[in-house]
Amino acid sequence: DFMQIQKNISLKTFNTFGIDVRAKSFVAVKTARLLREVIQSKTLENNLFILGGGSNVLFTKDFDGMIIHSELKGIRVIEENDEHVIVQAESGEKWAEFVDYTIEHHWGGLENLSLIPGSVGAAPVQNIGAYGTEQEKTFVSLEAMNLSTGKIHTFTHNICNFAYRNSIFKTLEKGKWFILNVNYRLQKNPKVSLKYKALKEYFRGKDTSFITIKAVSKAVKEIRRSKLPDPKVLGNGGSFFKNPVIEKETFMPLQKRFPEIPFYELADDKIKLAAGWLIEQAGWKGKNIGQAAVHNKQALVLVNLGNASGTDIMNLASTIQADVLSRFNIHLESEVLIL
Ligand code: EPU
Repeated sequence: DFMQIQKNISLKTFNTFGIDVRAKSFVAVKTARLLREVIQSKTLENNLFILGGGSNVLFTKDFDGMIIHSELKGIRVIEENDEHVIVQAESGEKWAEFVDYTIEHHWGGLENLSLIPGSVGAAPVQNIGAYGTEQEKTFVSLEAMNLSTGKIHTFTHNICNFAYRNSIFKTLEKGKWFILNVNYRLQKNPKVSLKYKALKEYFRGKDTSFITIKAVSKAVKEIRRSKLPDPKVLGNGGSFFKNPVIEKETFMPLQKRFPEIPFYELADDKIKLAAGWLIEQAGWKGKNIGQAAVHNKQALVLVNLGNASGTDIMNLASTIQADVLSRFNIHLESEVLIL
């Protein structure tokens, strides 16, 4: 058993945009012990990037450093009583497969997060969310290895600073940890959450007390498949921008101009807007600049028509940002990490 460091490898199959760039070095981590050996052997480069499923990253150039990729596998119950289980998943598991596993075992809490691409280790980093739920609702803790000392530390929920597509791993602790495994508390007698508009519509007229987590998972998969492109067919990174959060007083005049504008009220007089709506209104849905395009069923998703470079996607994104800014005076922040 030894850690193989690969040199000058193509990342095309390691990112869902399908961008063909190269990494100076690449390490696939199969055990925590081997990762610690690399950390202590000083073969670690200064410029490190931890790549999960590669579903939320846009490479615009070759990566001049070391990519560390989790291939840690395993799902196990670490605690159980009549009400709940605490399930531990290793960071290299595919998120969508983990969710399917929990649903087969009738454990509720992750069903609204079905079919999200990416790895388990990436889920807490950006606090993935969809259809009215975020992973932080069931997250208990995670174990991560410090990339300079090789020591393992437990991060409980309260220290992770979870927020909309954000956590301590994107802010204060950015780049310092390799996530080994994540623990979720799931319910044995779950209540389903159907407050998201698209789900409410899907189940309209049904008696909600008979709707199972399996039915919710199936609904989420159908809704996702109807709007979001399959990265195997059309390269993409899911939503390219975050939904902008603005002050209520900024929102009022906007709503006067566009009475049909979708919005969600948040705490503290904040309003969340639908970036996809703004982009569609600006006329971008289904449009392209060369090989980079705006998805024709969901304007928040930018796609690679086949041979786009990362820069082509970036140029389209910047053009859209400038247009939305001039029309609505709203700045769209990218959700995808640009490297
Ligand atoms: N809309 C449009 N035109 C579009 C797209 C959306 O008018 O082209 C409108 C919809 O009609 C709806 C509203 O915008 O009124 C919201 O649309 P949708 O339900 O499709 O969700 P979203 O806000 O565009 C967010 C997440 C998705 C997540 C969905 C479902 C972000 C940045 N995106 O998208 O997450 O799957 O909600 O919960 O928060 C991701 O993060 O990569 C991602 C795909």
